[in-house]
Amino acid sequence: MKRNILITGGAGFIGSHVVRLFVNKYPDYRIVNLDKLTYAGNLANLRDIERQPNYAFVHGDICDFDAVCEIFRKYDIDGVIHLAAESHVDRSIRDPFTFAKTNVLGTLSLLQAARNHWNGDWEGKRFYHISTDEVYGALGFDGTLFTERTKYDPHSPYSASKASSDHFVRAFHDTYGMPTIVTNCSNNYGPYQFPEKLIPLFINNIRHGKPLPVYGRGENVRDWLYVEDHARAIDLIFHRGRIAETYNIGGFNEWRNIDLIRVIVRTADRLLGNPEGHSEHLITYVTDRAGHDLRYAIDSRKLKEELGWEPSLQFEEGIEKTVAWYLANQPWLDDITSGQYQKYYDEMYAGR
Ligand code: NAD
Ligand code: TYD
Repeated sequence: MKRNILITGGAGFIGSHVVRLFVNKYPDYRIVNLDKLTYAGNLANLRDIERQPNYAFVHGDICDFDAVCEIFRKYDIDGVIHLAAESHVDRSIRDPFTFAKTNVLGTLSLLQAARNHWNGDWEGKRFYHISTDEVYGALGFDGTLFTERTKYDPHSPYSASKASSDHFVRAFHDTYGMPTIVTNCSNNYGPYQFPEKLIPLFINNIRHGKPLPVYGRGENVRDWLYVEDHARAIDLIFHRGRIAETYNIGGFNEWRNIDLIRVIVRTADRLLGNPEGHSEHLITYVTDRAGHDLRYAIDSRKLKEELGWEPSLQFEEGIEKTVAWYLANQPWLDDITSGQYQKYYDEMYAGR
């Protein structure tokens, strides 16, 4: 079947893996990647697929309603996988307005453009919104997990903006009948993650002998999932998930930050040929993040039971691959830290 799918935020971390999977797996689909190329968008993440005939890149802002409507019209979009967002909690603490604008108003702009274009004919249409486990708030150390029925209780401006956008998506189903799906995923890791997030930041810092800033006492817990497993789940849910449903996606893989950091340090030292313990001294405890959620942990049994999805990688394997990838792709990291990556758009698309 032919489809015209709009993927937003495809030049970012998770989006680039989703775009790559869809472009390679579905040659009959047209994949349109709409991305504003904020600091987090990097076209170098897509270099291997950018010339595929079923791929189109559109440089634009999801908040620009007229431009989004034009994309729906021009490409006759019948499916949306919406990943574009401001995604970093620390930035949301400094600048909550940008998060409200992109994550809430941007999502609303996409919903409204889809509604206008589809004009009540929902047959074969799908609006799939990618959200986060952070909307559920924070867990204690009592072993409970977030399920799809857990009440929303966001604490950071980032999670508050994502929660708000989730509500708008569900409201478009309940009010207009739009075929929507929302998924809430745990922390992703893997190649092409912007090096302000814990794992790539720390690998890069180890490489350069720089301090590894551990917030608070390093006791916060996150549930980590390899990014390609998230992309596989998105593919499955986009095609086979039930309309108006929510699915949690997670790896049943909880780590205390400090334990995870020690694994990263050990793995990086080994792969760099350093003696064991060489970079341990870089671990530096710093002031805690404001409102730092203690623990996230996802119960993804519904996804397993309904659609048979499970993470394919053991964490030890995933972290080894990830550290090895960043060490082997130092120019990718250097282009980001030097700002060079933001020139790629001009070089690649100038004169096209
Ligand atoms: P990212 O920050 O790496 O990428 C975001 C992308 O969106 C970038 O390419 C950026 O240029 C683009 N973008 C930002 N504002 C835009 C706008 N106004 N118009 C068009 N494009 C815009 O984010 P990520 O980590 O890949 O996360 C992708 C999605 O998945 C987000 O919605 C996030 O909330 C969600 N999510 C992320 C994680 C995680 O661990 N990273 C976990 C669960 C859910
Ligand atoms: P992060 O990668 O920012 O993801 P999120 O805040 O969405 O979970 O952070 C993961 C965990 O690591 C989180 O508990 C905050 C912590 N952290 C640090 O201790 N130091 C750092 O420099 C960063 C970026 C995060």
